[in-house]
Amino acid sequence: MSCFSSADESAHYGLSVCMLLGQYREQLRWEDDGVDELGTGDASAIADAVHALPGLRVRSYDISPPSVEKARANIAARGVADRYTVELGDFFDQADSAGGVQARTVISNPPYIPAPDRDILMPELWGGIHGNDLALQLLKAGYDNVIAAVPSYSDPEGTVRTAEDLGYRVVNFLAMGLDFGPYSSEPRVHAHIRRLCAEGRGWAGEADYMVAVALFTRDPELPGDRSHQLLRALQLS
Ligand SMILES: C[S@@+](CC[C@H](N)C(=O)[O-])C[C@H]1O[C@@H](n2cnc3c(N)ncnc32)[C@H](O)[C@@H]1O
Repeated sequence: MSCFSSADESAHYGLSVCMLLGQYREQLRWEDDGVDELGTGDASAIADAVHALPGLRVRSYDISPPSVEKARANIAARGVADRYTVELGDFFDQADSAGGVQARTVISNPPYIPAPDRDILMPELWGGIHGNDLALQLLKAGYDNVIAAVPSYSDPEGTVRTAEDLGYRVVNFLAMGLDFGPYSSEPRVHAHIRRLCAEGRGWAGEADYMVAVALFTRDPELPGDRSHQLLRALQLS
């Protein structure tokens, strides 16, 4: 077992979450009940967001023991251990447990590597055959607001359509181009991504792809719908 490592991707996730939480602070009301997080990784990106947003409390979960160990050290070093907690375990076990979902908002850069099976460089990053299994599970977990990374090669259209079916709209997003890293360059993953793109289930360039961190909501206080712009930014329409 290892810890997820992709500096550009984590920085984009952390900065985007920070910006969306800041921009929509009044409507999301995260100062009241905090936010939950699926997949802490080494916690560095969100520790910076917690530091930048006084009043933000994050409850995070990761299934990877080395990640949790690293995350706790990084959170302590950043001085935000009182507002950013990490537990070792499956996020969906706590979401399903007695009492269920407490916060209104969940954040995540979910595992999104598409592959035929879990036999990949870091199995914890497997997102199912189309790469969006955990994103879809998160949308079904009962939160009013979901801030999640949506990559261009993991069936983003399927993710957006499922979100719509569940009553979510895309309020806003921040998109960025990323180079293929070690996880997506693995030959059988790379070949699988090419197949998905050829089938029309995603987009990837020769050596890069797009990721958008998007705010999905079911709250009428957050108007508008940028689903179409999101798919365009991911090169899907
Ligand atoms: C793409 S990484 C993102 C890590 C970090 N948020 C970042 O952006 O740097 C996804 C993380 O989700 C964790 N993970 C996978 N399945 C999970 C689950 N069911 N519950 C909690 N964490 C999970 C993985 O171990 C991995 O650390």
